[in-house]
Amino acid sequence: MAVEMGYVSDAERAADVRAREIEERMTDEERFSLLVSVMGQNDVVTVRDDRIPEDAPMSAGYVPGIPRLGVPAQLMSDASLGVTNPGYRPGDTATALPAGIALGASFNPALARQSGGMLGREARSRGFNVQLAGGANLARDPRNGRNFEYLSEDPLLTAALAAESINGIQAEGVISTIKHFSLNCNETNRHWLNAIIDPVAHRESDLLAFEIAIERSHPGAVMTGYNKINGEYAGANSVLIEDVLKGAWDYPGWVMSDWGATPSWESALKGLDQESGLQLDVMMWQQEWFMGPLRQAYAEGKLPKERLSDMVRRILRSMFAVGVERWESVPEIDMVKHREIALETARQGIVLLKNDGLLPLAAKAATHVAVIGGHAQVGVPTGCGSSAVLPPGGFAEVIKIGGPGIMGTARNLCLFPSSPLAELRRLLPEAEIEFDPGMSPAESALMAARCDVALVFAIKLDSEGFDDPDLSLPWGQDAVIEAVAAANPNTIVVLETGNPVVMPWRDRVNAILEAWYPGQAGGQAIAEILTGAVNPSGRLPVTFPADLAQTPRPELPGLGTPWGTPVTIDYSEGAEIGYRWFAKTGQQPLYPFGHGLSYTSFAYNDLKVTGDDTITATFTVANTGDRGGADVPQLYLTDAPGDRRTRLLGFDKVELDPGESREITITADPRLLARYDDKAGQWHIAGGVYTVAVGKAADALALAAEARVEERRFGR
Ligand code: BGC
Repeated sequence: MAVEMGYVSDAERAADVRAREIEERMTDEERFSLLVSVMGQNDVVTVRDDRIPEDAPMSAGYVPGIPRLGVPAQLMSDASLGVTNPGYRPGDTATALPAGIALGASFNPALARQSGGMLGREARSRGFNVQLAGGANLARDPRNGRNFEYLSEDPLLTAALAAESINGIQAEGVISTIKHFSLNCNETNRHWLNAIIDPVAHRESDLLAFEIAIERSHPGAVMTGYNKINGEYAGANSVLIEDVLKGAWDYPGWVMSDWGATPSWESALKGLDQESGLQLDVMMWQQEWFMGPLRQAYAEGKLPKERLSDMVRRILRSMFAVGVERWESVPEIDMVKHREIALETARQGIVLLKNDGLLPLAAKAATHVAVIGGHAQVGVPTGCGSSAVLPPGGFAEVIKIGGPGIMGTARNLCLFPSSPLAELRRLLPEAEIEFDPGMSPAESALMAARCDVALVFAIKLDSEGFDDPDLSLPWGQDAVIEAVAAANPNTIVVLETGNPVVMPWRDRVNAILEAWYPGQAGGQAIAEILTGAVNPSGRLPVTFPADLAQTPRPELPGLGTPWGTPVTIDYSEGAEIGYRWFAKTGQQPLYPFGHGLSYTSFAYNDLKVTGDDTITATFTVANTGDRGGADVPQLYLTDAPGDRRTRLLGFDKVELDPGESREITITADPRLLARYDDKAGQWHIAGGVYTVAVGKAADALALAAEARVEERRFGR
């Protein structure tokens, strides 16, 4: 039942017609000019390329326009977490959202829509008409250094959020990408990484996330990844680009490479429409492939005229469909409102993992609190790489970290100026709050021992270009937490990480909060949750394993090998990622997907399920506690005829007053019940009885029911 992509509305059909007309009037030189983007100056590309006009607001990419035909220049900026400024627009700050994984934890597509709108408006106000957003890779490996930019380990949750973010951006007349297509799930030697996957499992996992997100939001462009998939570079992978994306899904927009990820001019014959970041291709491959070599191939008849026209038309139709040529005014930017969006995303994305009763901290109590570590007196950390945003007021601190490879020079611990310490002091005016830097376990323990409550902030820096070697906290922070917990039983740990971490001290602390990288208002959101001004409602969008031995790949291939070493990672877990893997192997994680506590309690009742074409489940959720709060009821497939498997079928985020209840209805996308039949090129639902369950988390299922679903084949 895959929906017809692209050509659904009159406006999109009109964009197609217009793209065709304008392309026909172009010279070949004009056609070629649209097929490459030049990168702005930054830490890696240190010289301004003279193909970029003086007055162009520069960021990630520039493609000249064709004024005589009314085609505007493409001005591209990163990313999903805000409009970045990689060092060349002095003083140009932008709203800095929490990490993508925090948005994932909100389980709230409406929030994604709001932050997408914010991104679109801020991009447009700076003249950027292509936002390199829509990070939608699945968190397959808890060490992946870019999981913080992405949304979750689940295809449906990822697609629901990515789609709304893209819809928000494009509603402002700015093209959004969805990226990185596909299976760009580890950073280790990413340019030489061959990601192996069973093609059927790929359709049922990472590709399904892209498929649903693209269907729901029609992003103007798809960005490919750096890695190879089953032996072919993503930017030249005709199976993925031609057969799946443009073939089975009928995707009408354009496919751009990642920066420095066009392996040859022949990529154009394999479906790639635009080469991005020419200077990086020179660094990687000593070539500007879609400049000289592609023109030569055309002259020699190796690049057919129809293909050249198709590349150009795809770019133009997306520009016209989204309306970048119709910009009339610059939107008014309300930075106060935009800060609220960042704050609300942090509030809804912070996950209360454990609470033995210490939280919330009573606002009126005259307690003596030790705040320890994590640079909490300065601000909150952000993830590193092309998604890092310069927040209003600038960074509170930039600590150079470094490392090997071309990303090493840009690997910094950047702190946003939202100090959890200051915010706690504001919200707990009667408490005495002291700060200890968490530098030495012994020193931290001394302060913890003389306070009523010890709050330890623990951080871990994730960065594009690097995977985490393991799941531990760096800089000796585990030892600080152990020492503090031994000195004071009222210890609370606040984690600010981009990935799951292991918690050897878990049983010795009273409460644990996962705040991710909480964005420019993160300190405030953390303090509000600790003090109970806000009731936590985040749920884990990724499974927290007890250790790496529980995961499909206890050893990460290639980890620690020098830059340039070829690496092969066999994603042999296939579609059984995260909670699916834990269900299949019957293991108990540290914290399951979907888990998150509240200061109130919720109950589920009256589950009714119908079948036929797909599963529809109706149930009620009630707030059984004594304060208002939001819950995220989740519906899972737990068994299918002759094929036991676990799949998130749907979820909702509901805000309920004490005693209030609400009826929820969830209809499963049939692709989540089906298996992909590679030979038939269709989805196949086996007829029979399907079991579903409603719960608070992937392994905390409260109600179960069965329904019969008829056999059928559908989609492509
Ligand atoms: C990243 C992309 C980003 C591009 C442009 C690459 O390093 O992988 O996500 O959009 O740079 O800055």
